Amino acid sequence: MKLRNLLAGIACLTIAPLCAQQKPVYLDETKPIEERVEDALQRLTLEEKIKLIHAQSKFSSPGVPRLGIPEVWTTDGPHGVRPEVLWDEWNQAGWTNDSCVAFPALTCLAATWNPDMALLYGKSIGEEARYREKDMLLGPGVNIYRTPLNGRNFEYMGEDPYLASRMVVPYIKGVQSNGVATCVKHYALNNHEINRHNTNVVIDDRALYEIYLPAFKAAVQEGGTWAIMGSYNLYKGIHNCQNPYLLNDILKGEWGYDGVVVSDWGGTHNTDQAITGGLDLEFGTWVDAYDNYFMAQPYLQRIREGKAGTKELDDKARRVLRLIFRTSMSPKHTFGSMNSTEHYEAALRIGEEGIVLLKNKGGLLPIDLSATRKIAVIGENAVKMMTVGGGSSSLKVQREVSPLEGIRNRVGDKAEVVYARGYVGDVSGGQDGVSTGQDLKDTRTPEELIAEAVQVAKDADYVIFVGGLNKSWGQDCEDMDRAGLELPYAQDRLIQALAEANPRLVVVNVSGNAVAMPWVEQVPAIVQAWFLGSEAGNALAAILTGDVNPSGKLPFTFPAKLEDVPAHSLGDYVSERRKDTVNVEYKEGIFVGYRWTDKQKKVKPLFPFGHGLSYTTFEYGNPMADSKSMTSDGTLTIRVNVKNTGNREGQETVQLYISDKKSALPRPIKELKGFRKVRLAPGEEKEVQFTIDREALSYFNDQRHAWIADPGKFEAIIASSAEDVKGKVAFDLLEAPASSQVPY
Ligand code: BGC
Repeated sequence: MKLRNLLAGIACLTIAPLCAQQKPVYLDETKPIEERVEDALQRLTLEEKIKLIHAQSKFSSPGVPRLGIPEVWTTDGPHGVRPEVLWDEWNQAGWTNDSCVAFPALTCLAATWNPDMALLYGKSIGEEARYREKDMLLGPGVNIYRTPLNGRNFEYMGEDPYLASRMVVPYIKGVQSNGVATCVKHYALNNHEINRHNTNVVIDDRALYEIYLPAFKAAVQEGGTWAIMGSYNLYKGIHNCQNPYLLNDILKGEWGYDGVVVSDWGGTHNTDQAITGGLDLEFGTWVDAYDNYFMAQPYLQRIREGKAGTKELDDKARRVLRLIFRTSMSPKHTFGSMNSTEHYEAALRIGEEGIVLLKNKGGLLPIDLSATRKIAVIGENAVKMMTVGGGSSSLKVQREVSPLEGIRNRVGDKAEVVYARGYVGDVSGGQDGVSTGQDLKDTRTPEELIAEAVQVAKDADYVIFVGGLNKSWGQDCEDMDRAGLELPYAQDRLIQALAEANPRLVVVNVSGNAVAMPWVEQVPAIVQAWFLGSEAGNALAAILTGDVNPSGKLPFTFPAKLEDVPAHSLGDYVSERRKDTVNVEYKEGIFVGYRWTDKQKKVKPLFPFGHGLSYTTFEYGNPMADSKSMTSDGTLTIRVNVKNTGNREGQETVQLYISDKKSALPRPIKELKGFRKVRLAPGEEKEVQFTIDREALSYFNDQRHAWIADPGKFEAIIASSAEDVKGKVAFDLLEAPASSQVPY
């Protein structure tokens, strides 16, 4: 593990005479980074600069051994640190000391609506990455949830740009406090997986700036991410890893980004565009040798032949050097730690805070163990390991507690816990040489499995069905989308049968995506459990038994049917694999998720964005603003009292949406612009405050290429979900002097 440091040390010895006289500036940790960068840059040969900007192995780039500048080691990302792989292979290397803690998937993190959880997540996973001597974590992902079919939604933070922005910033800060760079991905418009290499997204500027870019912008300007990964798809006909509009004009131009643009693995397609299009570090290109990467020998040759200059090369090398001085050559990096008690605790807490109680008719949950004799647990997902699979985020974990184990551990001898499989889904259990070690083969027919499950469920005090999706290809998995909104493997039939057999049924849906629930009326309690990582079963058991009061809220809308999603109803989603370039027009524009539901008026979602119940109840007072108006350079504070009116402690996320009553361009009915999670003891009441400024009122005016807040009437809406409005306050934005309007 320490080989890299050893090599860097040996290299330093070779320049020891130099060190002895006077430490070169680039090695002097007391010097500002920019001075170190410039000093190192002018020492590099042309060939060394070229080497610096492309991979030498599947996940590393070479650094400059002659100068003791270390390699850059990257790792997936984003839910745990990927096992070591062979030098030039995806397959794991078979180490026995690289098992990690799996943290809950990013959808779960977003569902906590708690930036403190994002900071804890980032700090913890950053420590794991640092311990494994990684300089860059390939994540987090902030692509917007546009369709519930996207196989990678579980790696992202939901449908709302404001929520994703508030959650990504602390994640980045937590990771980077260890001296490990985040590589925020996939920039940009990678909102589905099918045809990901050949989808050309056609989109208007408003949707681009208002919906799909804000979380990346926040990652850059507020999070200060040191790396960003370009996405596979195209925009304006150019692949995004070499796309001058996205990378030069917006990212490095408008946002002033000084970090590294990393290609997604195999996302670079041609040397000339890579040189001028804004790419800095090339990884994963599908050629026979690292020297044949687009930014390797072909680049060098162009420079030697005078067909390319060195201006771009210097800029790229500078950015990679900056990355190295920020990470492995920074005096501030930590030693890190792995599989610590603290990391398991973090994984557990995040899981507990992210699980969403969708429905709880008659207060069926929490399980009352004092009056329970028998609990029937049904379903493959109650036993299946979910940390292996799904694509590049697949992990090798030190341990993973399944839902069944978690429930059994918690219930102990207070009640009998019986299990039936119910359905057979994915029994493969392996990826890149990592195997779950589980043998899930079962040759029974669905009828036999259902009959057994019904038998087991009949006389139970509670039936806990744990199903949903899994990480196999075509479900919540990279490189493919789901075929439909329905649950796979005949689960709907099974759930109907269970509901008929026993009314005390709880359905736990494990997924990173919305699913159809045709049985929603027949099932009294429904829990959205996500992919919860190492502590999955313990987190779930804590919620089911009421040890922890649920406080997660949905980070995306659950539509009642696929046609309620504009990406599908407007007909621009391509569901078959294609070889040619496929134009996908985002015809719905800015109306994504609840923005579309609001616009449609008649369309009721199955469960709205921001929805999540608790075992206690909350009462909201009337929201008040501290003024009837605000000036464009001022602020406005909105206050609302929230009271816990039940008999157990709980947390509520108070949501602030802004509604623009009249604007020059069409706007959504309302948009999330604030949220606060408050913990309240029984009977306790707290005031929640939001202070907004003009940014919360602005939209992107594509004609003027600027964020504009039109003076006039607005409403601050206080809500418990996008569909559960608790109160509104009207206010005016007063006329602003034109000079105070900011671009971008
Ligand atoms: C994925 C990235 C990932 C990379 C390296 C790509 O296929 O899109 O998210 O970081 O592989 O594993």
